[in-house]
Parts: sequence; C-alpha cells; structure tokens
Amino acid sequence: MAKRTIVAMPGDGIGKVVLDETIRVLDAAGFEADYVEGDIGWEFWKKEGNPLPERTIKLIEEHKVGLFGAITSKPKDEAFEELSSELKDKNLVYSSPIVGLRQHFGLDICARPCKTYKGNPLNFIRRGKGSDIEEPLVDVVIFRQNTEGLYGGVEWSNPNEKVYDALMSHPKFVSNFGDVPKEEISVSTRIFSKNATERILRAAFEHAKKYGYKSVTLCEKPNVIRETSGMMYKMALGMQKNDFPDIDLWNTNIDAQMMWLTKNPEDYGVIVAGNMFGDIVSDGFAGLIGGLGFACSAQSNPDSGIGVFEPTHGSAPKYADYDTSIVNPIAMIESACMMLDFINEDEIAKKIRKAVAEVIEEGKVRTYDMMKMRGKPDVVDNGAASTKEMAQAVIAKL
Ligand code: NAI
Ligand code: MG
Repeated sequence: MAKRTIVAMPGDGIGKVVLDETIRVLDAAGFEADYVEGDIGWEFWKKEGNPLPERTIKLIEEHKVGLFGAITSKPKDEAFEELSSELKDKNLVYSSPIVGLRQHFGLDICARPCKTYKGNPLNFIRRGKGSDIEEPLVDVVIFRQNTEGLYGGVEWSNPNEKVYDALMSHPKFVSNFGDVPKEEISVSTRIFSKNATERILRAAFEHAKKYGYKSVTLCEKPNVIRETSGMMYKMALGMQKNDFPDIDLWNTNIDAQMMWLTKNPEDYGVIVAGNMFGDIVSDGFAGLIGGLGFACSAQSNPDSGIGVFEPTHGSAPKYADYDTSIVNPIAMIESACMMLDFINEDEIAKKIRKAVAEVIEEGKVRTYDMMKMRGKPDVVDNGAASTKEMAQAVIAKL
C-alpha cells in the first residue's frame, strides 16, 4: 500500500508538543507515513486574519486524514485587539477554526471513548456497601452530533425584523418574551436535521454492534425539548426496532444522566446525543477516567473518508511556555489510535493502546495530573514525568 500522508495540525499552545510526541510514538509503532504541516490557530488569525487558512483546507481535501493538537480561542473583542494592525479595518470576525473544519468537511460524526485504564490513580472511585470502596470499570463511547444543534451558529442578538416577526408568530414567544424589548433579546437556535440525526444514530448503533456493546443510550431531553430531542428519540426507536433489534435502546435525560454518571457509570455502553449534550456528557464521562489528559476524540465524515483526530483538551496556554513540557500526551496518543482505526491500521492501534495501558498499570511513569500535583514548572523535579518522558515510556513498551 502507498505510504499515507497525514496532515499534522499542531495549532496553539500545548497542541504542538503533544502532537510531536504522538508522531514519535506512531513512528516507533511502525506506522509508515509522511506528515505535512497544516497551519491552524491563533497565530494565523493574528497574522492573516484567518485561523483556518485555505491552504490547510486544501491539504485536508487532498490527504483526507488529519491529526490536530489544540487551538486557542478568545472572545470577540480580544480577538479584534490582537489582529495585526493592517487587518483591523477589514471587518474580520474570528470564528473557531475547529468548528470551521467540522462544518466545512461535514465532520458530523464525533466519537469520544472513555475507558478506564487499570492502575490510573485518577480513576473514579465510589463508596460501596459499608466501608467498601468500588472502582467501576467505565467503557463508554459517546457519539456526539458534531455540526448542528446549539453549536450550529444560527443566532442573533437584537434580531432583525424578519426573525423577530417569525418568533412573534409562536404563541410561546408571545407569552414568554412578547413584552421584552427586541434590543434586549438574544436567540441561539437548536436546529436538528433528519439526515444528520439519522447519521449519528446509525453510527452509534453500528459501533455498538461492531464492538459488542449491549445498549445504546440516547441522552437528550425529549420530554421538554419536544421537537429536536423528540425527533431524535422517535428516530432512535424506529432504528432500533428495524435495524438493531439485538441492541437495547435506553433513553435518559441529560440532567439525570449527569447525576447517574457517578452512581452507575459501568452500566452504559454507547451513548448518543446532539451537539451540546454530547459535549457535556462526554466531558462528564472523561472525568471518570482521568480527565483531559486522557480524553480523545475522532470527528469524521464516513462518506468522504475525511477524518480529523484530536484530544478533547484545549491549548492550555499557561503550560505552553514551560522549558520542559509537563502535560499528558496520552489523550493525543489515543486520538492517533482512533485515526489508525479509521484507516484500518487496527494492528498498530492495538499495539499502541497496549503499550499505553502497560505504562499506566505499571505506574512508574506518571505525568503531573496523574500524580495529583498542581501544574507548575517544578513538577518534574518533584517526580512527575514530562510530556516527553511519558511518550518515551510508551515507546519503550513498543
Ligand atoms: P484547556 O483544556 O486548554 O486546559 C484546562 C486545564 O486542563 C489546563 O489548565 C490543565 O490543568 C488541564 N489540561 C489540559 N490538557 C491537559 C493535558 N494534556 N495534560 C494535563 N492536563 C491538561 O482548557 P482552557 O484552559 O479552558 O482553554 C485554553 C484555550 O484552549 C482556550 O483558548 C480555549 O478556547 C481553547 N480550547 C480549545 C479546544 C480545542 O482546540 N479543541 C478545546 C477546549 C479549549
Ligand atoms: Mg468540551
């Protein structure tokens, strides 16, 4: 098979170091690929007024598969402040390049696995009977609709007349907001399309089937958000009945799910949700398996075969300039394993996952988060592994 080319998009802050270390791990595991660097992030916003340059889009179009570190996003006013002076009069508005990537390539299927590693000191524990302490084994994959819903970007403050009139045609708007001055109204819509809803549901069921999970849990709020969550629930019921009769469909409300998270996380398998609730519930589960240093994700469009793989964490700017990087590269390494799954390099993915699991279980090499230290430049002197040392430990196991 021809050698793969992967678009490596370090982005900002710690994105660069976790991506570099991950590529070292991929090399050591025998994954043969060329990497081309894709520009993305704050630096390009400041210099070029575009955090997602067209050349990066072209690279992804050409090579299809990208590894992405993390980016920095800042609020509107700050974004304008930092824009280079010759671009300030060009009416540029910052928008998140990662959201841009999702929308441009229709990367509507986001998968976020949260699986307990044996021996991870950050694993969630709970009180059992009497004075027992239990450490439930979490093995959940959250499927989050990645392009629509509350993050779809259809929103207004002081909406224009047309929008306002449309809102006023709804009796609930009239009774709840009819006497609020228009200038004081902000609206963010939550739009679900049937097609995208069907795709995320199907991806979740297919995954459950392929990997032997016994249930798919729809985590929305259909009793209150009747149109969008309601449609999703109805479609899930139909799909389960017609196409996946051997898999149970559970229906939980997002608020209750967050409460059950710590009561019985081991009961859940595949979870599926819209964009925002998927974001929330996946962060919740990630907290049970070690948090941001362990939370990986895949976003893909199965039709075009385009996929971008990234840790859930951000650019952690406060750690970006340390002489020795202290952040945990495991989330990025695991994201790369999801990339390998996506391109059918299952064997290499398996090898890397095994190596990571061994390092964690052995417990000799632990980054500061695993040692429950506060992230400070001196953590390495106090026994924590640096980013590089953690990657090196994984490589040694390989
Ligand atoms: P963050 O995820 O960058 O960091 C929050 C905290 O989590 C850090 O201070 C650190 O204590 C911990 N942490 C994060 N990654 C870690 C790792 N690999 N190992 C150990 N500990 C880790 O989130 P924050 O501080 O809210 O945002 C910083 C910037 O990142 C913002 O500009 C934000 O917009 C952006 N961001 C970007 C994301 C992306 O690129 N997908 C996602 C989330 C935030
Ligand atoms: Mg999040």
